[in-house]
Amino acid sequence: MSKPSLLSSQLRYGAVAQAFHWLTVLLVGVAYLLSPGGREERIYSAAADSARTLHESAGILLFALVLLRILWRAFDPAPEGARMEPWMKLAAKAAHWGLYALLFAIPLTAIAGAWLEAHPLTLLGIGDIAPMLAPDHALGAAIANIHTILGNVIIWLAGFHAAAALFHHYWLNDDTLRSILPTWKAAPVLGASAKELSQYRRNAP
Ligand code: HEM
Ligand code: HEM
Repeated sequence: MSKPSLLSSQLRYGAVAQAFHWLTVLLVGVAYLLSPGGREERIYSAAADSARTLHESAGILLFALVLLRILWRAFDPAPEGARMEPWMKLAAKAAHWGLYALLFAIPLTAIAGAWLEAHPLTLLGIGDIAPMLAPDHALGAAIANIHTILGNVIIWLAGFHAAAALFHHYWLNDDTLRSILPTWKAAPVLGASAKELSQYRRNAP
C-alpha cells in the first residue's frame, strides 16, 4: 500500500484534492435534496424557512469550498490519469470543466435571483444578508429559474461523470476511480498481491 500524500502525484489525486472532491459531492447532494420548489410565496414562506436556510447554507459553503479548491488546484495540478483514448480524455476534461462552471454559476444565479427579487440570503450561523442589488423582480425571477435549471443539469452531468468513473473501474479496469479514493484503495506498489501488481502494471505510464 502506498503512503497517503497531501499533494497529487502523476497517478493519484492527493489527500487535499480528494477531500475537496468528496466534500463537494456531499454538499451538492445535500443542497439538491433540500432544494426549495414551488411558487415564490411558498419558497419564502415561514413553513419553508428552515429547509431553504439549509439549502442556501449548504450552497454557500459549497461555493466557498469551490473557490478554495480552484486555488489549491493552481498550486497542486491534477494527475495525468490512466492511459486512455484521446476522445475519452477530452470527454473527461469537458465534463470536469462543465462541472466547475456549474459549481460557479449555480450559487451566483441563486444569489443574484434572490437579491433582485428583494429577498435576503439566510445562512446558518450568520443570519440574513440583505440584498446588495437594486430590485428588479422580473429579472430576478428569470435568473432564479436559470438557477433551478442549472441545479438539475449538474445532477445529470455528475451522474454521467460518476457512471463514467464506474465504467473505468469495473469495465476498463483502470485506475481512474482509484486515483481519487484514499490510499487503501490505491494502486499498490510494495506488498502487493500478484493480481494487484499486474493491474498496476497495466495502468502505469
Ligand atoms: C450546487 C448547489 C445548489 C444546487 C444543486 C441547487 C439546486 C436547486 C434546485 C434544483 C432548485 C429548484 C427546486 C425546485 O424547483 O424543485 C433550487 C432552488 C433554489 N435555490 Fe438552489 N441550489 C444550489 C445552491 C444554492 C445557493 C448557494 C443558494 C443561495 C445562496 C440557493 C438558493 C435557492 C433558492 C432561493 C431557490 C428557489 C428559487 C426560486 O425562486 O424559484 N441555491 N436550487
Ligand atoms: C456532484 C457530484 C460530483 C462533482 C461536482 C464532481 C466533480 C469533479 C471534478 C470537477 C473533477 C475534476 C477534478 C480536477 O481535476 O480538478 C472530478 C474528478 C473525478 N471524479 Fe467527480 N464529481 C462528482 C461526483 C463523482 C462521483 C459520484 C464519482 C465516483 C463514482 C466521481 C469520480 C471522479 C473521478 C474518478 C475523478 C478523476 C477523474 C479523472 O482523472 O479523469 N465523481 N470530479
